[in-house]
Amino acid sequence: MNQVLVTGGAGFIGSNLVNELLKLDIYKVYVFDNLSTGRLANIPINHPLLKFYQLNLLSDIKDWPVLDNLEYIFHFSANADVRGGLKDRNIDLEQNVLVTKSVCDYAKKNNCKHLIFASSATVYGEPETYPTKETAPLIQTSIYGASKLSGEAFIQAYSEYSDFQSTIFRFVSWIGYGYSHGVIYDFYKKLRNNPYQLEILGDGLQRKSFLDVSDGIKGILKLKEHNKKSQIFNLGHKEIMDINQLAKIVCQYLELNNIEFKYTGSKRGWIGDSPLVHLDISKASSFGWSPSVSIKQGIINTLDYLTSNKKNIFR
Ligand SMILES: NC(=O)c1ccc[n+]([C@@H]2O[C@H](COP(=O)([O-])OP(=O)(O)OC[C@H]3O[C@@H](n4cnc5c(N)ncnc54)[C@H](O)[C@@H]3O)[C@@H](O)[C@H]2O)c1
Repeated sequence: MNQVLVTGGAGFIGSNLVNELLKLDIYKVYVFDNLSTGRLANIPINHPLLKFYQLNLLSDIKDWPVLDNLEYIFHFSANADVRGGLKDRNIDLEQNVLVTKSVCDYAKKNNCKHLIFASSATVYGEPETYPTKETAPLIQTSIYGASKLSGEAFIQAYSEYSDFQSTIFRFVSWIGYGYSHGVIYDFYKKLRNNPYQLEILGDGLQRKSFLDVSDGIKGILKLKEHNKKSQIFNLGHKEIMDINQLAKIVCQYLELNNIEFKYTGSKRGWIGDSPLVHLDISKASSFGWSPSVSIKQGIINTLDYLTSNKKNIFR
C-alpha cells in the first residue's frame, strides 16, 4: 500500500484531507502535527490506515520518524495566521520557511516522489490585474506572504536537486466543515460576546473569494495528477463577496437584527491585508476542476459547523 504524509494533518484543511485520503482506502496515511492549532478530535486516530505522530517540525529531521518511499508529502503545517507576523516577526520565518526547508530535506531523505504545498493568494500582494493569474508579478505586502513565497521557492529548487515532483497550491480563504480561524470565526465570536454591535476590521468593502473545503480537497486530489516536474495552481472561486455582505449573512444566520457595524477605518483590515482577492482559476479548470459550492452556501456550511461545535471551538 502506498504511503503518504500530511504535515499539519490535525488542522482545519489538513484534517479534511486526511479524512478524504482515508476514505479512498488506498493509502497508509501518516500525520505529523504538534497540535499547536490542530485538534486530535479532527481525525480518527484509531483508524487502521492512520498513524499520528505528535511532533514539532521545528525539531531536527533526524528525530522525525523514518517513512521510506513516500508517494506524497502534503505539507500543510504552518503558522496559518496571516496577522501573526505583525506581533512576532520570526513566526513566519520559523514555521513557514525553516519548517518547509526541513520538509524538503525529509522528502529527499525518505525518497518522496511528490511534494504538495499549501501556499496562499497573499503571495500576489496587491496585484494590478484581477482575476489574478498564476503568472502575475509577486510583490509582497505581508511577512506571511513572503514566507509562503519563500516556501514555494525552496520546494521548486529542491524538486530539481532531489528529483521529486512538486505541486504548489495558492489558496484563497477556505471555509466550511472544520473551520477554526478567519473572518467568519471572528464575527461569530464577537457576536456571541456582543449581539448589538460588530467591529469590522477595515471599511467592510474588502472583497474576497472564499472556497468551501469540500471543493478545495477535491481540487488538491484532482490537480496533483499532472506530469510536469513542478506546477502552480490557484485554488479559488469565480465569485467574490464583500465583508459587509458576509457580516450580514452571519447576523441573519444568528437571527440578530439591527446590529451596528463599527469599522476600524482603512480599506485594509490590517497591514498586509489585501482589499481585493480574486484569483483566476482557469488553469485549474483546464485540468478539470472548478468549485461547485457558492460562497454563500460555504458561509452557511461554516456557520452550521461552528454552531454544532461551539463548545469545543469557543473555549
Ligand atoms: N485556511 C486558509 O484559508 C488558508 C489560506 C491559504 C493558505 N493556507 C495554508 O494552508 C495550510 C493549512 O491551513 P489551516 O487553515 O488548516 O491551518 P491550521 O492552523 O488549522 O493547521 C495547521 C496545522 O499545522 C500544525 N502545526 C503548526 N506548526 C507546527 C509545527 N511546528 N510542527 C508540527 N505541526 C505544526 C498545527 O497544529 C495545525 O494542526 C497552512 O499551510 C496555511 O498557511 C490556509
